Amino acid sequence: MRSIEVFGDNRLNNLIYESDNLPVLKELVREGVKADTIIVDPPYNTAIPYIGYKDSDYSEGWPAFMSERLALSKDLLSPTGVMFINIDENELVSLLTVCYRLFGQENVNVLVWPKVDPRFDANRVEKPVFNVRSAHEYIVLCYNDKKNTVFKNTCFGKPLESIVSGLGTTSSAKDEIAAILGDRGCFSTPKPMALFRELIRVSSGKDSLVLDLFAGSGTTGHAVMDLNAEDGGGRRFILITNNESDICRSVTVPRLKKVIEAEHYDSGFAFIHED
Ligand SMILES: C[S@@+](CC[C@H](N)C(=O)[O-])C[C@H]1O[C@@H](n2cnc3c(N)ncnc32)[C@H](O)[C@@H]1O
Repeated sequence: MRSIEVFGDNRLNNLIYESDNLPVLKELVREGVKADTIIVDPPYNTAIPYIGYKDSDYSEGWPAFMSERLALSKDLLSPTGVMFINIDENELVSLLTVCYRLFGQENVNVLVWPKVDPRFDANRVEKPVFNVRSAHEYIVLCYNDKKNTVFKNTCFGKPLESIVSGLGTTSSAKDEIAAILGDRGCFSTPKPMALFRELIRVSSGKDSLVLDLFAGSGTTGHAVMDLNAEDGGGRRFILITNNESDICRSVTVPRLKKVIEAEHYDSGFAFIHED
């Protein structure tokens, strides 16, 4: 049976679903939901054992897993909505193949995110290096209609650049979680809040809905509330994440509860889960 727990002042109707995203995406499509910004930060399907995801984890393979979810997500995009998909080198080609088919190549751009940066990496732990140290990832940007979509400037007063730097790294994202939950190691692949805040800032209006289908530690929810606090906006979020390693209950929900209290965000959320 489905349960709903509400935290804080949830006038905006922010939602966190603890679930595989597939049934929730289908439900949102049936309800006619439309989002101006969709954040997609999936498991990257790398074969490197210490990261843990392998193609064998997906019954039809990673491209089929993503294709089904991205097709539903496209149905959830508003006419001038955009999707930001994080990915590393492992699946860039198969992801682009899916995105070109769904959106058309003219509606797809590839950004680079430097995930290592000495300005942010005081606590970074070096991983094994195989000849070349991996210092960047990609953000695939998909527009419903690129010609008719106009981005706002970033907080630096400049357009979004194709190298999205100066907004934090994987290591600084772990520091952010440690500062909130007191545990730097509770989640291994968070994104920095400032990165998502800028992606949302340029692509959303003050009343937009922002959807994240692989919400992990809840960075998108944090970024939406922080941006609203900064510019007086009323953006709303829907986050979906499964409960792999108990992440939803031990990281996502506690993180958002804590930042609402600590930052005095005028916000709340409903946590929707199966009993
Ligand atoms: C790369 S992480 C996302 C990190 C997130 N952007 C952050 O900043 O914390 C991917 C997340 O997707 C979740 N996940 C994997 N498969 C899923 C699925 N089918 N439905 C929902 N969540 C899923 C994993 O549990 C993991 O927490």
